[in-house]
Amino acid sequence: MTRMHAAGIDPRVEDLLRRMTIEEKLGQMSQSTSMNTLTDQIRAQIRAGRWGSFLNAGSPADRAEAQRIALKESRLGIPLIFARDVIHGYRTIFPIPLGQSASWDPDLIAAAARLAAREAAAQGIQWTFAPMIDIARDPRWGRVAESFGEDPYLTGVLGAAMVRGFQGDSLDSADSLAACAKHYAGYGAAEAGRDYNSAWIPEILLRDVYLPPFKAAREAGVASFMTAFNTVNAVPATANRYLLADILRREWAFGGLVVTDYEAVTNLIAHGFARDAGDAARRAILAGAEMEMVSTAYYDHLKSLVASKQVPMSAIDNAVRDILRLKFQLGLFDGRAQRTGAVQPTPESLALAERAAEESAVLLQNKGAALPLPKSIRKLAVIGPLADSPVDQMGTWVMDGRASDVRTPLRALREMLGGGRVIYAPALKNSRDNSHDGFAAAIDAARQSDAVALFLGEEQSLSGEARSRAFLNLPGAQEALVDELAKTGKKIVVVILAGRPLTFHETASKVDAILYAWHPGTMGGPAVARLLFGDASPSGKLTITFPRTVGQIPIYYAHLNTGRPALESELGVPLGNPANPQGYTSKYIDVDFTPEYPFGFGLSYTKFTYSPSRVSSAVLRGAGRVTVSAEIANAGSREADEIVQLYLSGPVGGSVARPVRELKGFSRLHLKPGEKKTVQFSVSRAELAYYHGEKQFSAEPGLYQVWIAQDSASGIPAKFSVE
Ligand code: BGC
Repeated sequence: MTRMHAAGIDPRVEDLLRRMTIEEKLGQMSQSTSMNTLTDQIRAQIRAGRWGSFLNAGSPADRAEAQRIALKESRLGIPLIFARDVIHGYRTIFPIPLGQSASWDPDLIAAAARLAAREAAAQGIQWTFAPMIDIARDPRWGRVAESFGEDPYLTGVLGAAMVRGFQGDSLDSADSLAACAKHYAGYGAAEAGRDYNSAWIPEILLRDVYLPPFKAAREAGVASFMTAFNTVNAVPATANRYLLADILRREWAFGGLVVTDYEAVTNLIAHGFARDAGDAARRAILAGAEMEMVSTAYYDHLKSLVASKQVPMSAIDNAVRDILRLKFQLGLFDGRAQRTGAVQPTPESLALAERAAEESAVLLQNKGAALPLPKSIRKLAVIGPLADSPVDQMGTWVMDGRASDVRTPLRALREMLGGGRVIYAPALKNSRDNSHDGFAAAIDAARQSDAVALFLGEEQSLSGEARSRAFLNLPGAQEALVDELAKTGKKIVVVILAGRPLTFHETASKVDAILYAWHPGTMGGPAVARLLFGDASPSGKLTITFPRTVGQIPIYYAHLNTGRPALESELGVPLGNPANPQGYTSKYIDVDFTPEYPFGFGLSYTKFTYSPSRVSSAVLRGAGRVTVSAEIANAGSREADEIVQLYLSGPVGGSVARPVRELKGFSRLHLKPGEKKTVQFSVSRAELAYYHGEKQFSAEPGLYQVWIAQDSASGIPAKFSVE
């Protein structure tokens, strides 16, 4: 990971440790957000070694001057580390992570992170708080936008790709950032989808669902971890010895830096866990949280806690070692320049952002092949509050993106078709607007046109941190707008820009096509225009289940079966007495039990057919492998990419019931019309392992099923047994 061998770093770290006062050590363990600008007070603090790190701070020039002071004017010349939330792009903004995950394209995600690292590093950032690899199974939670969705395997693969992208070949190269796996752990299990809420996670779910992406990030060499805000089984993650000491340090042997989330140490008091800031500092450091973000409990209390022997000096020294080691690895002691260059989107960065937006979009509905639209279209009505809204298009976590860089769908469609063929009517001022005042102009535009491209969804500020929603419908008067436009009888293709799965069952029944574009970033407009007009075929697939209604939540594909599973024939709401004894199965009496769109789902402009899945052998013995294969054919008339998915279930008859399916592999294929390819996955016993009781992690013998399928709800399985 780093050019300087650890053996060269460790003596230098030890030498510094020997010379540091306890105040200097606690300074290193403190990260501040106070440097909006470099004031005289902050200069003096840096000289005195008061801070080890700043987050989201200052201009590039201020950061450079702050670094000069740390290196040249502080007693020991220890550099600062500048951290920033570079989450889905720095200046060039990529789709939100949930959108990026719908590409199922680790190389693309790594390339986007690499580009963001280059841009951020050019302005003196050395550490990013990404990837966010919380498993997100509740779309009410606003932070699903920042996640890679509901599946642990996919999140692990994509999270590791992002780590590689940010960190590059070597942490000390000028354009690398240290990555941070967050939020460790269980943050996505927030009860009721309400941000920061408690998480109750049985060991089996912790081990099989919530932790695997973090383990994958650790194996990918992630430089740091961030503790989560929430409690996990009544113990706050930030002071959770089981998570931090037992699992992260001992089981996984993680040797990097652990930073807390924002004020998460003093939040221990509100949790009712710590009595006061001193108690909070003691419990967090003893669990293994090494750098405190923003609150100052460590600096204020650890000196006296060490003096009174409530905290051993070794806990402080270990934390400081990890902090200094990262600074050495980043080359900060050894001439990594504190850069102040200008950063602009480039043709290369914009092309990558466009490709990412294109691969992220998911085609959910396409009645009567309404899409793609013909380029010969006479007039297109472009309607809706999100057709021309640069800020909303960028999505959550955009600290350095500029609205002026953004190419909106309206602009792109005008460029593609010529302004004269596009009639624009926003209809609503923003996604939450309840006024019908703009409807008349929109209906008029629709009447004059051959088709309507309707841009609905959620504005930026409705998704992300602290943006939980209890209702997932299209906000404001958007549904009423759809009703009015549907009355015109025109072809309506809807593009939804949103940070989470929304519920729009009625709307879907009234329109022809639905393309889910997420918050697609700087180049979302051109990507959407190309997809609408068939310059590219949609290839994205959902990485999170779309419920029909909020009442179905929690709903995710890898659930256990009940003793009374409902049948497909029980879809629909029964008339008459719903207590019919034949219907005592696990379902709802007022809505179908199935999701609106399952995990893995996404349509294309062509049609792919799948042969039944085959296995190379009916029995998997010892350390052997089973090869699973299927033929995929492009039976349509356009060339396109298909994301082929491998699911497994089983065993039947083990010591625990197992999920109905779990994703174990995937691959992106490109097929020309009429072309056929055989896809093969090789499965080992280790890949089948799951948690079943106290420290038991293995594949138990029994019957397994395997599907190569288009999504989590289709495919014809094959079977094999493990002996
Ligand atoms: C978020 C983190 C973020 C941090 C620093 C917190 O509120 O939970 O994800 O990295 O702020 O901005």
